[in-house]
Amino acid sequence: MKIHIINGPNLNILGKREPEIYGKSTFKDYFTELQFQFKELELSYFQSNIEGELISELQEADDNVDGIILNAAAYTHTSIAIGDAVKAIGTPVIEVHISNTHAREEYRKQSYISPNAFGVILGFGLRSYELAIRSFID
Ligand code: DQA
Repeated sequence: MKIHIINGPNLNILGKREPEIYGKSTFKDYFTELQFQFKELELSYFQSNIEGELISELQEADDNVDGIILNAAAYTHTSIAIGDAVKAIGTPVIEVHISNTHAREEYRKQSYISPNAFGVILGFGLRSYELAIRSFID
């Protein structure tokens, strides 16, 4: 089974970015742990700070992988275009967030991804990604 993780803006600086919210681990280190934990899966990972690149990546991953885990970061709350891309592709997308966005600022409660996502997992720290992978396996 092939699962592709797509991370949006500012997730390339995890570890030093607001560690009290997002933790102290870099995503690269966490991804290595995931690969170790799920040896039977083909896991891949892409990150961009650019909205259009995230859309192109969703389109390119479509039909090439079995599932997509998407943390569109702040674009979650603003991007109709990423929401449309999730709707347009046939591959199931699980929306994930490290933090519980509903327990934070009002503007983080809106998601353009959720209505078109296969499911949403948030608030479990980096473990949200692991739970999304397990959901695809199940
Ligand atoms: C985030 C939550 C977003 O509101 C925020 O803009 C992020 C990260 C999360 O994983 O908790 O960049 O998607």
